[in-house]
Amino acid sequence: MTADPTEDRIALQARDVRFDFTELRTDWIPGEPFASHLIDVLHLLLPEGERWFVDVFSRALPMVRDEALAEDVRGFIGQEAVHATSHQGALDHLVEAGVDVTRFVEQVEWIFKELLGDRGLTGDAAREWLVERVGLIAAIEHFTAVLGSWILDSAALDAAGADPHMLDMLRWHGAEEVEHRNVAHDLYTHLDGRWLRRIRAMAVAGPALAKLWVDGTRHLCARDPHLRGTPQRRARLRDYLRDSRRGLVPGPWLFARAVLTYLSPRFHPAAHGDTDAAVAYLAISPAARAAEAGHAGPAEGSAA
Ligand SMILES: [Fe+2]
Ligand SMILES: [Fe+2]
Repeated sequence: MTADPTEDRIALQARDVRFDFTELRTDWIPGEPFASHLIDVLHLLLPEGERWFVDVFSRALPMVRDEALAEDVRGFIGQEAVHATSHQGALDHLVEAGVDVTRFVEQVEWIFKELLGDRGLTGDAAREWLVERVGLIAAIEHFTAVLGSWILDSAALDAAGADPHMLDMLRWHGAEEVEHRNVAHDLYTHLDGRWLRRIRAMAVAGPALAKLWVDGTRHLCARDPHLRGTPQRRARLRDYLRDSRRGLVPGPWLFARAVLTYLSPRFHPAAHGDTDAAVAYLAISPAARAAEAGHAGPAEGSAA
């Protein structure tokens, strides 16, 4: 089985986007450090995480016996590589702003390079470990697609005056996650496809991501120099519930529904998410438009 032939399959392209975060405030949603940092956890996880996606998919590519799927996998690799670089830029900016995230980032590096690395295996063991990791990525990609749909439709962030450069970065990324949401699932299905193994991967990836997100948000709030001596230094569950009710961060039901959806043996990502909405945003994204124009000038609103 390969890419769902009934769905809107589009040629995936990596866009050479650039973002300038030099003027970015640590509370880039003004006056909302908790919500800003909860979303900032992406910058702690994704540079290493998406480089790991690229590594695993590059190793899996020679095993693909379907040219359309191979083309999707190459498109996925190209897009995820640019995502990693873009979030690295945001992470570097956080560090320059005095938020010391070294310890957390080292932990993330260990997870993706050591715990989830290739482990020097050979033969059948190497193949099995590769398929296992593709299954994990398929589970994670279900969340990135759900989050991508959420950020494309998050009017509360505009109303709250969120920084337009950060919002464009998140929405460009979210739109590409929606665009390529089928690829990891199709690759897993092509290489193995067993339901129990897919669910087992979700049982690992879901709680692990939740734990990393809670820890990352706490870490950022505790280390933001602007929050020193304020009660906001302590990130609490009630802050999350409050901000999710206000639409500033994705709510717990979004994740619960995402997991329940994934459990169905008939699950396919094509049935979830709106490719037209993703393509429509990419057509108006300042960074994607500047990339399309070949960066004839700085990205709209860029200080560079
Ligand atoms: Fe991505
Ligand atoms: Fe992705």
